[in-house]
Amino acid sequence: MQTITRLDPLRDAIAALRADGPIALVPTMGALHDGHLTLVRAAKRAAAHVVASIFVNPRQFGANEDLDAYPRQLARDQALLESEGVSLLWAPDAEAMYPAGYATNVSVSGVSDGLCGAARPGHFDGVGTVVCKLFNQVQPDLAFFGEKDWQQLAVIRRMARDLDLTRPHVDAIHGVPTVREADGLAMSSRNAYLSDQQRQQAAALPRAMAGACDAVRVGTNPAAALAQLVELLLAAGFSAVDYAELRDPDSLAVVANPASQPARLFVAARIGGTRLIDNRAV
Ligand code: PAF
Repeated sequence: MQTITRLDPLRDAIAALRADGPIALVPTMGALHDGHLTLVRAAKRAAAHVVASIFVNPRQFGANEDLDAYPRQLARDQALLESEGVSLLWAPDAEAMYPAGYATNVSVSGVSDGLCGAARPGHFDGVGTVVCKLFNQVQPDLAFFGEKDWQQLAVIRRMARDLDLTRPHVDAIHGVPTVREADGLAMSSRNAYLSDQQRQQAAALPRAMAGACDAVRVGTNPAAALAQLVELLLAAGFSAVDYAELRDPDSLAVVANPASQPARLFVAARIGGTRLIDNRAV
């Protein structure tokens, strides 16, 4: 596996790989776990070559967020990607991604509003901008993202559709189901921030979400089911719940009556200084 950090050699290397067939991109911010490796394996089944990217994108972190603390472990990540058969790692630094004078922003309205868009202002502009650049840099035929970041996936698909991207075409942007720990907690690089006690408490999140979905399915009033979910999380040791909402899986519009339309439950909750997100079908 080659690791490339500048754009000109990347373009040459991509041209060489493309001669063998389709290229799949797996964009990441590093600190890889089994969730990322599942994306790589899905990509590998679908394309001749997998290109992974590692870039901790400063534009998607708010002023008071964890940019400096975000785990960085390039050597370990390289070894993992190599063992999964990745052909090329694109690992630009901030200067290569956003050279002096950089001034362009990709902002997707609608699906970016609410949920993490409201709780983390500017976050999805940062995601849209960097993913648009990654798509232009690598020109992948396919791209793979985790469904844990369901709203992010909706933003990226909207962007690809609106900007008429052909590489990857919107239909070639794949969402891969969330990989979970044995107790149901969704895998996330941010789980590394949790103390042992917080890690145990965090298992209340998938449990409470499953309970809320069951309750809604058997006809409990959605507002009551969500209030009960918030109560359970606070009792389990979470310090705050940013949101707990039922939304349409595609448009992300608020769902008032899940009995008459498809709905997905989205939750973001804080435990100590760590913010965890998850989603599941009702
Ligand atoms: O999901 C992530 O890891 C990031 O948001 C992404 C898609 C790599 C963009 O920085």
